Amino acid sequence: MKFMNLGSRENASRYVAVEMFKEIHFNECTLLGLATGGTMEEMYQELVELLKRHQTDISCLETFNLDEYFNLDISHPNSYMSYMKKHFFDPIGMQNSQFHLPDNDLFDVEEDNLRYDAAIRDKGPLHIQLLGIGVNGHIGFNEPGTPFDSKTRVVELSPETIEANARFFDKQDDVPVQAVSMGIETILYSNRILLLALGDKKADIMAKLYHMTEPDIAVPASSLLTHPNVEIIMDEAAAQYI
Ligand code: GLP
Repeated sequence: MKFMNLGSRENASRYVAVEMFKEIHFNECTLLGLATGGTMEEMYQELVELLKRHQTDISCLETFNLDEYFNLDISHPNSYMSYMKKHFFDPIGMQNSQFHLPDNDLFDVEEDNLRYDAAIRDKGPLHIQLLGIGVNGHIGFNEPGTPFDSKTRVVELSPETIEANARFFDKQDDVPVQAVSMGIETILYSNRILLLALGDKKADIMAKLYHMTEPDIAVPASSLLTHPNVEIIMDEAAAQYI
């Protein structure tokens, strides 16, 4: 696992955007795993600009997102579908058939989850899996204690995660308490993983992860120690205790 402190938020976001851009631009049909969260906003803005500036053909790009809130209307402004449409899918003109998020409605959710994993298995491995990280070390919505062989499924959000995500909602009670998340095994089924961590709030978890030598299910991101090609990209604020 390679830890990189790129100084400013801008540099760290740009590094990830450029790596994603190269994968899309120089590959005919790129398969990406995508993440949401405040951390990714500048990165997507930069990536959209690069793809437009270079008139990249994205007609064969296909993406799978990590997670979605459970039983929240996908047209809700805080759904991850809305986030992705706003920050990435709509600005580059992706067709509905090109992007996938875990199905989050109440009906047939288990079958839908199996189908989601099967589609990634069939088409994968993903060329790049993009990740953020939660303050408790979660990746996707795989909270502490998640087995490393987990697949896509409905998960309960931890109190820390609900609190951290409350900033996007009017009040904490509005934050969904469940989500559908790609499992850790599914996340690891990728050629390359880029994890972006920005800001003071991520400093403690980054220091903890940096010092881990063995994977431990108490810190879901430590599952990345079992993957051969992982870069952890940080700004100075997130790397300050390393
Ligand atoms: C959310 C998402 C994660 C994301 C993380 C950090 O709960 N499920 O995929 O990486 O929390 O979010 P942020 O970038 O807003 O700090």
